Amino acid sequence: MRLLSGKTAIVTGSGRSIGKAVAKLLSEHGANVVVNDLDQGPAQETVDEIAEAGGRAALCAGSVTDPDIPDKLVATALEAFGSLDVIVNNAGYTWDGVIHKMGDEQFDAMLDVHLRAPFRVVRAAAPYLRGAAKDDLAAGRRPPCRKIVNVSSTSGVAGNAGQINYAAGKMGIVGMTKTIAKEWGRFNICCNAVAYGFIESRLTQPKEAGDTTSSGIALGIPQRMREAALPHIPLLRYGTPEDAAGPVLFLASPLSDYVTGSVVLVTGGSVV
Ligand SMILES: NC(=O)c1ccc[n+]([C@@H]2O[C@H](COP(=O)([O-])OP(=O)(O)OC[C@H]3O[C@@H](n4cnc5c(N)ncnc54)[C@H](O)[C@@H]3O)[C@@H](O)[C@H]2O)c1
Repeated sequence: MRLLSGKTAIVTGSGRSIGKAVAKLLSEHGANVVVNDLDQGPAQETVDEIAEAGGRAALCAGSVTDPDIPDKLVATALEAFGSLDVIVNNAGYTWDGVIHKMGDEQFDAMLDVHLRAPFRVVRAAAPYLRGAAKDDLAAGRRPPCRKIVNVSSTSGVAGNAGQINYAAGKMGIVGMTKTIAKEWGRFNICCNAVAYGFIESRLTQPKEAGDTTSSGIALGIPQRMREAALPHIPLLRYGTPEDAAGPVLFLASPLSDYVTGSVVLVTGGSVV
């Protein structure tokens, strides 16, 4: 069963890991996908892999923190595919530090990418999403259910030592999710969040691997902390990007047309 035939989705940060798995899964279910990433090469690879599998994807590379990108994402969806039905605000990274050593730049960077950018993307899409729904309502039809899925974290549900900046952003997006659900329910727009626990990706790889963002911020978790996390996951394994993508598909699909304002924990059962 293809759940998203003819729908168009924007997936930010879909050049790697979770975002890439989401873009590919939505495509497998028939969606046209606007692929975005800060890094053009990985984003192009996602576009190519979708095309090779018989799907349709369009590239819109650039940082979601660039004020021009939200409008470009929406324009790409409308120009390439003629509609916009699903937005997945996934792009992000971590820049950890303890409270007493954290400067404003490090704090603000997390609010910019995890909070301000998703807000701008949703605001940029507002004229289309609200306008299309209003046209249907004026014609006496219930608009099709459009979907926004925001990516949060257990840090955004329960806080986490060493992540005051990230936790603030990821908890902020939960507030934004619930507000969009209340404000846009009358347009039949559902807005939900997924809160991930430990998903294998660049952000959770051993820090010893030495990977960094393009601006040089170290990514990963010390190996001893990775090992310490495992016994606290009832399913006794870390999640894969594919594990992370499934609940996003559910929240993007008609299976969840009566679910809005929710936060789905995708944690392997770990208590937050
Ligand atoms: N991996 C986990 O365990 C975990 C847990 C909780 C939440 N998350 C969240 O999941 C999302 C995806 O993370 P991931 O684990 O797949 O990380 P990842 O680093 O493997 O992939 C993230 C992708 O987003 C891109 N990106 C980063 N900043 C961007 C920006 N400003 N504009 C556009 N693209 C940008 C990166 O280039 C990368 O390709 C993030 O929001 C992250 O905070 C991940």
